Amino acid sequence: MEIQKPGMKVGAAAVIVLLAGAGAGFAGQPSLVIDGQTMITKAKAPAYTPKLTSVQSGWVFRSKETQALQLDDFDNPGFVFVDKGRDLFNKVEGSAGKSCASCHELKDFIGLRTRLPRVNKDGHLETMEDLVNKSRTKYMGAKPWKYSGSKMTAVTALISLQSRGMPMNVAVDGPAKPFWEKGKKLYYTRVGQLDLACANCHEDNYGKMIRADHLSQGQINGFPTYRLKNAKLNSVHARFKGCMKNVRAKPYKQGSPEFKALELYVASRGQGLSVESPSVRN
Ligand code: HEC
Ligand code: HEC
Repeated sequence: MEIQKPGMKVGAAAVIVLLAGAGAGFAGQPSLVIDGQTMITKAKAPAYTPKLTSVQSGWVFRSKETQALQLDDFDNPGFVFVDKGRDLFNKVEGSAGKSCASCHELKDFIGLRTRLPRVNKDGHLETMEDLVNKSRTKYMGAKPWKYSGSKMTAVTALISLQSRGMPMNVAVDGPAKPFWEKGKKLYYTRVGQLDLACANCHEDNYGKMIRADHLSQGQINGFPTYRLKNAKLNSVHARFKGCMKNVRAKPYKQGSPEFKALELYVASRGQGLSVESPSVRN
């Protein structure tokens, strides 16, 4: 196994013991079709991920029961929060006396999720959360929402849903290049007491079992994602934080330059996969 190396810390050895054979006996749903629309859950890997032959949605790796919850929006618990997002979208707040709906129609956001994060004209890398909070502070005279708070994830799920089915297509060249490089570096940097990088799990060992969990490629095309574990919508950065904590590393802050760069890089590893937001995971 590739994550084994001489001088490895004790904790990492324990993790490896728990990595069993290649997902033996796994048989999930045949394909992810929602409302007659087929999601692209497997796509050709981009040239910059030579170790992957294909990129695969996290949905592919979930149990048949968890997969089924995403086949129908009535069964998908994430939609309770999307409805909450709709209410928030129409709610007047702030000194300008406006709601999101005063200036935006949801259809204006079709395709937006596929292109985020992106670099703005001032040269800053922006996530969807940044765009929402920019509108709140600059145009509504309202307080920014907490980066991964329930209001933010409800609204980012509603906005992301407008792109459901469309393939991820973030820019990695031009002004995005330095951010992408930074994200790539973070992805391959070993951290924490277990001394593991994102790549050690999600590139070298995807498809294997880690404890009771079937390891995926750690894709973000389904975010914000409803997790059965905490029964709410989870942001990309909250998930990154969780994975860093699991290897006993001190996570970067949500909304930090590090996590934004990592988000861009991870998004680029899923180019071609359909946006599934809000997806369902365990
Ligand atoms: C008073 C008008 C106004 C209100 C109210 C407003 N926005 Fe905006 N919003 C804008 C303008 C103008 C832009 C584009 C210019 C910019 O990026 O600064 C924008 C950009 C955006 C974008 C990026 C869209 C794209 O395609 O690039 C998102 C997402 C967004 N707003 C979400 C929201 C949300 C969510 C709310 C409510 C919490 C909201 N906005 C409230 C005016 C508004
Ligand atoms: C010790 C192994 C391990 C490491 C290291 C690790 N993760 Fe994970 N990660 C997991 C497990 C287990 C899950 C849950 C099952 C799955 O989807 O793979 C997960 C899930 C995820 C998901 C959710 C995927 C989905 O479809 O919803 C993302 C995104 C993710 N990880 C990103 C990262 C990033 C970025 C890093 C590096 C900062 C990282 N992970 C490091 C084990 C790891």
